[in-house]
Parts: sequence; C-alpha cells; structure tokens
Amino acid sequence: MIIELNLNGKQVAWEISPGDRLLDALRMGEGAVSVKRGCESGDCGSCCVLLNGQPVNTCVVPAVKASGQEITTLEGLAENELMKKLQSSFLDSGAVQCGYCTPGMLIAIWARLNTGGTLTEQDVRHALSGNLCRCTGYAKPVEAILKVWEDKS
Ligand code: FES
Ligand code: FES
Repeated sequence: MIIELNLNGKQVAWEISPGDRLLDALRMGEGAVSVKRGCESGDCGSCCVLLNGQPVNTCVVPAVKASGQEITTLEGLAENELMKKLQSSFLDSGAVQCGYCTPGMLIAIWARLNTGGTLTEQDVRHALSGNLCRCTGYAKPVEAILKVWEDKS
C-alpha cells in the first residue's frame, strides 16, 4: 500500500507492507540514521521521533500509523535554535558518551521544553524516564538540559 505523510516538513509517499514498523520505514526507507535501533520492544527510547509533536518509540508503531500525519526526526530539527542549544550543551557538559541514546533523549526533552511551564530537575528526569542510557548515569544530560533552560528563562 502507499501512504502519504509529512516528514520533516516535506510531503512524502511510502510504499509499505501492513507489518512494516515506523522504525524501519525511517531508517531504511529514508536513511534517518538518528532513529536508532535499540531494544525493539518500546523500552529504551533510542528510536524516538515526534508524531504530531508527541514523542513515540518507532519500533512499536506500525508505519501505517504515519499515514496523513506529521513525523519529525532529529534530522528535521537540525536548524532549530532550541535543538542547536541542546546539542551544544550536551557536548559542552560531557553528556554524550557512546551517543547511542542521545538522539532519543534530545527529541524527548525538546518536546518537553516546547510544552512551556517551569522545569525542575525532577521534571527533566521524568521527561527522560523513557530514554535508557547505559553510559552517563543521567547526571550530565540533566545538567546540560537545565543549563539550556536557565539560559532560556
Ligand atoms: S528501539 Fe524502540 S524503544 Fe528501544
Ligand atoms: S551515552 Fe551511551 S547509552 Fe547514553
């Protein structure tokens, strides 16, 4: 079947099969390598993208669910000012070690920061609760995010 969707601001058409996952359509069909293949069971957050602005784990979302929707990957936020600040802060704070979890973390926290309101350390930890990181112990990513938040406020 053919579906149409908006991917990173552009209309695209995909030829998919009913069992295809959004993860594979993005990585293999579109070359969106920021969408990482991790646990493949919805637990690690490394395959996270935005579906109509909400973070979703693409390994557990059928590709057909993207039909008529807006999908944003990290590639689509490359020129976004807030995302650039987050990326710089992650690098400056030593929040990127192996980096495998980083795209998913960035997507999750970008979505949270765009909801507005206040942001405490607990809020950051809650926003990242679906993103598993085996390297950093979360302290550096949390520090990097709070620095961006403090500069923004
Ligand atoms: S690969 Fe999708 S949540 Fe882990
Ligand atoms: S930096 Fe390695 S898994 Fe998070």
